[in-house]
Amino acid sequence: MKPFAIVNHVFWVGAIHPDLRLFDDLFLTKRGTTYNSYLVKGKNKIALIDTVKGMFAPDFMTNLKTVCDPAKIDYLIVNHTEPDHTGSINEFLKLNPNITVVITKPGALFLKELTNAKFNVLEASDEFSIDLGGRTLKFVIAPFLHWPDTMFTYLAEDQILFSGDAFGSHYYNDSGMFNDNAGDFSEEFAVYFDCLVRSFKKKALLAIAKVKDVPVKIIAPSHGPIHRTNPLQYVKKYQEFSTVEKLSTGEKSILVLYLSAHKNTEKITQQVAAGLKTEKSVVKVIHIPEVSLDQIRDELEKADALLIGTPTINRDVPKPVWDVLGLFQTVSLELKLTAAYGSFGWSGEAVKMIEDRFKSLKLKTFEPGFKVNFTPTEADLAQAREFGQKFAAELSR
Ligand code: FEO
Repeated sequence: MKPFAIVNHVFWVGAIHPDLRLFDDLFLTKRGTTYNSYLVKGKNKIALIDTVKGMFAPDFMTNLKTVCDPAKIDYLIVNHTEPDHTGSINEFLKLNPNITVVITKPGALFLKELTNAKFNVLEASDEFSIDLGGRTLKFVIAPFLHWPDTMFTYLAEDQILFSGDAFGSHYYNDSGMFNDNAGDFSEEFAVYFDCLVRSFKKKALLAIAKVKDVPVKIIAPSHGPIHRTNPLQYVKKYQEFSTVEKLSTGEKSILVLYLSAHKNTEKITQQVAAGLKTEKSVVKVIHIPEVSLDQIRDELEKADALLIGTPTINRDVPKPVWDVLGLFQTVSLELKLTAAYGSFGWSGEAVKMIEDRFKSLKLKTFEPGFKVNFTPTEADLAQAREFGQKFAAELSR
């Protein structure tokens, strides 16, 4: 795609990737994506905001040359350093080795290791701005949206927020590059949030709070359509997506997820749950096979505490429970306490494996977990209830 003007003297100079079907080997992208790079021309200076994925460096350099001489660009703004936006920097540096890279402090460290190149650095901060001559660039540090080094760039006179990955979509439609001519990308916008931003909901709300009083006419993200018509609707959507409904009564929400091959872990679960119930807690018990992983993700985000009950099968945690444990990096957890329990037949490793998973994610874990060999006796069930009571007591401390 050829460069085009967003407003006078501000150009899209990126690359399109319509046939991409799997982003980063992780996320389905049935409508491809774009890597948006922007050029801002002031009266005295020129700034380039982000580059594109390395495989598109030739297209990108061609695009850039149609709008200006790359050697004459004064600043390279790096909103975050993920390679789909920094992968062409080495090519760019060949033509402009003396450019000044404007970037956050952690971003500079990452970029050095990503490019193994030398470059001049100007550290961005919330207080810092650059005068291009009649055009002023300001910066909003927005860490973990979705990388630790993330920032937004704001072009004050034109009220354009270059938001990096935030408010983006993996979506391309040759009908247009703006939200009012690109067709319906609402599904891709939501999926993109789910894949990239969901695990950083609090950070998203913090970043939104920082820009809430900033007048914005256009949001120009680093992927997908540029939002020039009612751009704030996308901020509102992020606000909605990022808000987790917690109990309004002040009680603690305890989530119990369990799997039970022979009903033994189920019997234990019933007693653990009875022990967990107090005046200060609401207990929700979910049999893992009966709900979708998406439902479990929603419940995980609402929970203040989590217990997982599981049998051990062939010395391991059964796959449906691993699938649950694999969800943790995709959601915003606020768990104050975790625990594991279950019935086992031969060896009983699963409880400790789950505890290890909790601890590896720095989640506070109530140990030791509760284990019963084969069928629980009445005494075992009484202990299971006591285990739940002790967990609840620890949680309320
Ligand atoms: Fe589109 Fe986080 O890179």
